[in-house]
Amino acid sequence: MTKIAVWCRHNEDNIIGIGAKIPWHISSDFKRFRKITESENLVVGEKTYESFPNRTLPNRNIHILTLNSDYEVSDNAKHFVHNNIADFKDFEQDLYICGGATIYKLFMTSGNKLMPDVIVDSCYMGDIDNLEGQKINITPCGEIMQKLYQKVSPDYEQENVLTSIWIKKGDFIEQEVLKKLIKIISINH
Ligand SMILES: NC(=O)c1ccc[n+]([C@@H]2O[C@H](COP(=O)([O-])OP(=O)(O)OC[C@H]3O[C@@H](n4cnc5c(N)ncnc54)[C@H](OP(=O)(O)O)[C@@H]3O)[C@@H](O)[C@H]2O)c1
Repeated sequence: MTKIAVWCRHNEDNIIGIGAKIPWHISSDFKRFRKITESENLVVGEKTYESFPNRTLPNRNIHILTLNSDYEVSDNAKHFVHNNIADFKDFEQDLYICGGATIYKLFMTSGNKLMPDVIVDSCYMGDIDNLEGQKINITPCGEIMQKLYQKVSPDYEQENVLTSIWIKKGDFIEQEVLKKLIKIISINH
C-alpha cells in the first residue's frame, strides 16, 4: 500500500530537530500532523518515539524502529517494535513515515519497496528556538526529493508554514490517499 513521509523542516537549513526537540511550536502544524496520521499506522525511530509525551500518540498504531530487541513500549496493544526496516517491504496498510532524520533517510535510500510514494513536505519559514543539543537535519532527503519526486500541489500557507505534496516520479499513486492529504493540507487548522 501507500507509504507517505510526513515532515516539517526549517527553511534552507532543513533542520527538523535540536536534541530531542522540534525547535518551533506551530499549533496548526501539530493539528495537521494529527489529522494526517489519526487512525493510521506510523513508523518512527526510537529517539522520536521517546520524544512523544508519555511515549505515545493517541488513536494511532506506532511502529518503532530500534536495534534493541528488548525494547519495551508504553502500549503493548498499539505499539510494535521492529529491529529491521525490511519488515515494512510488504506492509499491507498505508504507512506514515514520521521521522526522525535517521528513519526518513533509511526509507528514502533502502530501495523501491521502502521508498515513500508520497511526501507531505512542510517548510517552516520563521526563526527557530536556540535550543541546546545537536542540530538534526534532513538535507539528504531534501536532495532526493528534488531529484526523484515531483510537486503535485501548490504551497498551502498557514502560520508561516508552507505545505505541499510531492509524489515519486513515474509511479502510480493511490488517488484516494492523495485526495485525503490535499483535503487536509488545504484547510486551515
Ligand atoms: N520536524 C519533524 O517533522 C520531526 C519529525 C520527527 C522527529 N523529529 C525530530 O528528529 C529528531 C530525532 O531524529 P534522529 O535521527 O536523531 O532519531 P530517530 O530517527 O527518531 O531514531 C533513531 C533511532 O532509530 C533506530 N535505528 C536506526 N537505524 C536503524 C535500523 N537500521 N534498524 C532499526 N532501527 C534503527 C536506532 O534506535 P536504537 O538506538 O534504539 O537502536 C536509532 O537510535 C528529534 O529532534 C525529533 O524531535 C522532527
